Amino acid sequence: ALPVSPDVDRCVNGDHTLKCCPTPSGKQIIDFTQPPPPTTLRVRRPAHSLNPKAAANYAKAIAAMRELPPDHPWNFLQQSNVHCAYCSGGHRQAGTNISLEIHGSWLFFPWHRAYLYFYERILGKLAGDPSFALPFWNWDHPDGMSVPAIYRDPSSPLYNPTRYPQTLNFTNIGCEGDVGKGLEKQKQCNLRLMHRQFAAASDTAELFLGGQYRKGDTDAPGGGVLEGVPHNPIHVSTGSDMSLLRTSGRDPLFIAHHANMDRLWSIWQSTSGGGRTKSFHDPDFLNASFVFWDENMQRVRIRVRDCIDARMQLNYYYEDVPNLWLNMKT
Ligand code: C2O
Repeated sequence: ALPVSPDVDRCVNGDHTLKCCPTPSGKQIIDFTQPPPPTTLRVRRPAHSLNPKAAANYAKAIAAMRELPPDHPWNFLQQSNVHCAYCSGGHRQAGTNISLEIHGSWLFFPWHRAYLYFYERILGKLAGDPSFALPFWNWDHPDGMSVPAIYRDPSSPLYNPTRYPQTLNFTNIGCEGDVGKGLEKQKQCNLRLMHRQFAAASDTAELFLGGQYRKGDTDAPGGGVLEGVPHNPIHVSTGSDMSLLRTSGRDPLFIAHHANMDRLWSIWQSTSGGGRTKSFHDPDFLNASFVFWDENMQRVRIRVRDCIDARMQLNYYYEDVPNLWLNMKT
């Protein structure tokens, strides 16, 4: 078997009206290399407690992205379309007529990590700040279980008009019980659910990252436990753009949602039991690759093996916040 890789210049717009395939580009594709030192470590912080200056910088960078010409690869909608084209039947797997799907398999965590990596560096470039870091939506902490304030001002570039008003003030990450029993009970329900899901995901690479997916596979085999819950219900309950794979990138919350998913991957990798040793060592996992525009307007091919260790390979980490669910007694 062989690893998947995309043919980014062959992309099929689905039957939906959204045409998310990029304009084919003649630009050569180069292999990812880690930026040379000196390196600034970027620190991703919770969106709900971001300091006003960092929040203003972030909003300004997103505004700059929105103002770029519509066909610029860094343009806000172009960037959102990158996500759309890697699902919804867009890009073909190189050398085949089969579409490449980045959900529902072991590609889920690495693809979104790589996507955020380039997104963050593009924003940093637009902000003129080499230490710029994306905020994360800390929906697994009681203080983060709502749409963070920085996203809620209708005049902000971080706003999206399709969010559901009924879930703005409380983010249910997928709890079925305790609904309508008051905010505190619901938050506890979220924490217990996080605890159970993380524990259920922890034992094997397949349970955490998702099923094996190789070149020529026509169907995604099924995602990891956390992709199912809480990842999916949060998409569905947040808003109509957020609820569909092809439009979710249009809501700036998408990035914050996935930064938190990515943080959970880092936690799994570093917690006892050793997600790092349990991870897949299969070359078809490690050599699977994706192509993105980077902050220097290069087209870059990044492989899964390039993004296993966020801090050592991609130069960012997450601020250490209390994970109340991690060692919870249930
Ligand atoms: Cu690519 Cu949250 O989905």
